[in-house]
Amino acid sequence: MSSAKIDGLRELKSKIKLGGGEESIKKQHERGKLTARERIEALLDNESFIEIDAFVTHRCTNFGMEKKKAPGEGVVTGYGTIDGRLVYVYAQDFTVIGGSLGEMHAAKIAKVQEMALKVGVPLIGINDSGGARIQEGVDALGGYGKIFYNNTIASGVIPQLSVILGPCAGGAVYSPALTDFIFMVENTSKMFITGPQVIKTVTGEEVSAEELGGAMTHNQTSGVAHFIDSTEQECIDRIKLLLSFLPSNNLEDAPVFDSEDNMNRIEERLNDIVPENPNKAYDMKEIINLLADNGEFLEYQPYFAKNIITGFIRLNGKSVGVIANQPKYLAGCLDINASDKSSRFIRTCDSFNIPILNLIDVPGFLPGTNQEYGGIIRHGAKMLYAYSEATVPKVSVIIRKAYGGSYLAMCSKELGADMVLSWPNAEIAVMGPEGAANIIFRKDIKEADDPVLARGEKIKEYREAVANPYVAASRGYVDDVIEPSSTRKRIISAFDMLSTKRQVLPSKKHGNIPL
Ligand code: HXC
Repeated sequence: MSSAKIDGLRELKSKIKLGGGEESIKKQHERGKLTARERIEALLDNESFIEIDAFVTHRCTNFGMEKKKAPGEGVVTGYGTIDGRLVYVYAQDFTVIGGSLGEMHAAKIAKVQEMALKVGVPLIGINDSGGARIQEGVDALGGYGKIFYNNTIASGVIPQLSVILGPCAGGAVYSPALTDFIFMVENTSKMFITGPQVIKTVTGEEVSAEELGGAMTHNQTSGVAHFIDSTEQECIDRIKLLLSFLPSNNLEDAPVFDSEDNMNRIEERLNDIVPENPNKAYDMKEIINLLADNGEFLEYQPYFAKNIITGFIRLNGKSVGVIANQPKYLAGCLDINASDKSSRFIRTCDSFNIPILNLIDVPGFLPGTNQEYGGIIRHGAKMLYAYSEATVPKVSVIIRKAYGGSYLAMCSKELGADMVLSWPNAEIAVMGPEGAANIIFRKDIKEADDPVLARGEKIKEYREAVANPYVAASRGYVDDVIEPSSTRKRIISAFDMLSTKRQVLPSKKHGNIPL
């Protein structure tokens, strides 16, 4: 072959690699952002990236677009490895027409979605785009439609990770929203359906882009995003960490790591971590850290619905999803947001064969008109549904309170917990002592010489009667009452025993989870 052909190819490729050109790259860096190619390079193993579709171009001729070059069509796509494991990736290139999405840009994304699904590996999408390419009109909209459809079809088959590293506005937000995990970076990421300008015009409300759709807004207030970092590099490190807990697809198990942590480790601290006074709070995260291999815990949605903790740990080297009530916030009550957060997490774990550990200290559902009007009935039902439907091994440990419907909602035996262990200080009952005394001893309290004193005594009497796990254990609702210090050993043993668990649900098109 003539060397001119080779030179021509090299020249073409290096032009495409420059994206929107040096000036635009400079601008991108001035915005504090890496370019699409720099991001892919930072994410994937050294020299593992194989680009596809670099030569794709748009075919729009509206509004002078025929004269506009768009190297790579504003999105870099291909495959490579992370820690030696294959992934597909796309990164929108803001230096090319603002990373805007037209027909062919969308076709490139759809291709990697379909390839990732076909070969059964995670897809990581890096979003940095001005949205639908305005000049392309309905072709751009059609492109989004195809991406949303592919996101949905791939859901539950391969892990889909969305990384927001720039604007992601309008209907474009629905691709990330359909995926399993959304990562955001402070001051860089923005997600909203309608931007500050539109809001001001329509409602008169003034709000900054960061306040409206920045990383903390979606990690703390809306619950749209799952992870937040302060730099792109930290975000990339977190993506790699998350992938280490996940299998490549729904037919595989997550990778198993050699654990240097003793699987029979006894933790004396667990014997006195729960305060004597049942109304006193403690930090459930300390328990999680003491149980996990090497105290390592990757928390999912750490800023949203802090009354419930969700995330990934390893037990004897194996990935486990943890769901735990947090007595430090709202006394660990379940509310609408906690129900949504945990139900989604349960389904994420179940989709990807990750066993579930429940650490229970729940006094009830949060009372109030806000909760009732907001539909706590329908939201709380998601937890019952998600736990009942999950066929992965499920182990529950009752740490302290387990009251009423919230006890069931945290995965009791009947909801399919394969092993229920309880600490000796557990309180398992239909409702909390205060409420119960008011109802069953109402007459005694009313007729007493000193109703306040009598009420206090009746509360104490009720608490003493229910404040132990032995009634539940005598019926088999609790499989064993254990010393807190031995919890790590016992849950590792339970998950090992359950590793060959098989459960098949009745065949159906799909269930009808209360949304
Ligand atoms: C075409 C676009 C574009 C778009 C940006 N550009 N967004 N071109 N279609 N949607 C172009 C700009 O014209 C500019 O081109 C270049 O990209 C860089 O943009 P700047 O405006 O210079 O950058 P910046 O100041 O950082 O502002 C970024 C921005 C802004 C906030 C994203 O560009 C913007 O508001 N864009 C429009 C956003 C929008 O309304 N999109 C439609 C959303 S609706 P030049 O040639 O000047 O460098 C939507 C519907 C999806 O997406 C529906 C799916 C169902």
